[in-house]
Amino acid sequence: MEEVTVPRDGYDFVVVSNRLPVDRDVDEAGNSSWRRSPGGLVSALAPVMAQRDGAWVGWHGAPDETLEPFDHDVFHLVPVMLSELEVKRYYEGFSNATLWPLYHDVIASPEFHRTWWYAYRRVNERFARMAAETASQGATVWVQDYQLQLVPRMLRRLRPDVTIGFFNHIPFPPTEIFSQLPWRRAVLDGLTGADLIGFQRPGDAQNFQRCVRKYLGVQFTKGAAQFSESTAEGTDTTWTVNAGSYPISIDVDSIKELADSPEVQARAREIREELGNPETIFLGVDRLDYTKGIGHRIKAYGELLHDGELSVADSVLIQVASPSRERVDSYRQLRELVEGMVGRINGQHDTISHTAIRYLHHGYPFEEMVALYLAADVMLVTALRDGMNLVAKEYVAARRDRSGALVLSEFTGAAEQLRQAVLVNPHDIDGLKEAMLYARDMPRAEARKRMASMRRQVLTHDVVDWSQRFLADLAGHARAGRDTPAD
Ligand code: G6P
Repeated sequence: MEEVTVPRDGYDFVVVSNRLPVDRDVDEAGNSSWRRSPGGLVSALAPVMAQRDGAWVGWHGAPDETLEPFDHDVFHLVPVMLSELEVKRYYEGFSNATLWPLYHDVIASPEFHRTWWYAYRRVNERFARMAAETASQGATVWVQDYQLQLVPRMLRRLRPDVTIGFFNHIPFPPTEIFSQLPWRRAVLDGLTGADLIGFQRPGDAQNFQRCVRKYLGVQFTKGAAQFSESTAEGTDTTWTVNAGSYPISIDVDSIKELADSPEVQARAREIREELGNPETIFLGVDRLDYTKGIGHRIKAYGELLHDGELSVADSVLIQVASPSRERVDSYRQLRELVEGMVGRINGQHDTISHTAIRYLHHGYPFEEMVALYLAADVMLVTALRDGMNLVAKEYVAARRDRSGALVLSEFTGAAEQLRQAVLVNPHDIDGLKEAMLYARDMPRAEARKRMASMRRQVLTHDVVDWSQRFLADLAGHARAGRDTPAD
């Protein structure tokens, strides 16, 4: 790839992610407008965007539509076009049916197709070029997540002057699993174009470093390694790649504000009343994804009803499963499976006045989610593998009175920080059942002690700290590691 001319009106700080931080609303008359997307990453980066003259490069979510750059609240947005075929091959295919299952412990079987890989490479090139044409001289570019792993090296070739960060929001797999990927060297090459690569857990950073050693023959020492490459003019450039863990968090203030709001508190009481004031509300909130262990949780709940340990008169499980990646086969199959299980359990245990499981296949506004967090006595996070799991942290942040219990899978990144949760191996259904009952029956004093300790963790490490720590390290490493002349 040839270098790109530095734009005269470029931006000092550029975020690159598969999705833009806005969602489109279309009203009844067909008029469309943009709304800021919910989520920690967007709220964490909004202040940085406003302060540093920032731009955000990403896909706006619709196929075959070319949009000009536009401004929306604090963001300058640079939309990247994806054709319908690229949505199939790059997004649904390589990103979500190859990398996603591969990086999540092969819970579903990854599919390897060369046509998907070619599309992934082509789309990554497009993102890299857009970023290169958007960044000012010496800008900082922060690339997000597994959909764009080739962008760092592509961007470095196009724009050797910019500082490049990469953050992987999902797990990075052990060598034994990563090795299955036919394009493993190319992916590692792509990532190592960055000055700093952030992971959720120290274990993810170690897995990555081992893979680099095995497939690129480069050894990291204390989280840093030297890379070099010949340019088109025949000169060598070298740079230092740093890799470490930066566990992401949530926008604590906005959750605290909602949890304090009389409307949200009233809504939480209303939810309990509408359910007939059960003694215990269990809650699950997930994207409908096979990594989340929704089936394991429902199975355990069904068995507890069957065993007589729970009854529909005393308890209810609310399961919010927001629609996700609905055209990908494994997601369709999961929906069939989960809805079949819910139907069977409800058919067996419901009474005219009580339902065992309230299954909600919808996305909800954030206020409603916080009301659910306030209404729930026991939060169930039973993921089989999860980079972090922000729902666990959101529940903790919402529980201002320090009541409530969190059952948390040890296979989430969050489990490394929320040590006072009731930790479970969700594959162990008996263990999960015991943990659910333990959480339900936990003495009030113990629950308060555990919640207070988890709250200290979450409240002192919010998503703004996360982005500041990453960006400060990126700036430091870039100053120290760039333009070292080759031997
Ligand atoms: C995970 C990924 C994100 C992704 C999100 C929603 O959290 O780490 O990169 O945006 O899921 O998935 P979607 O495919 O709808 O963007």
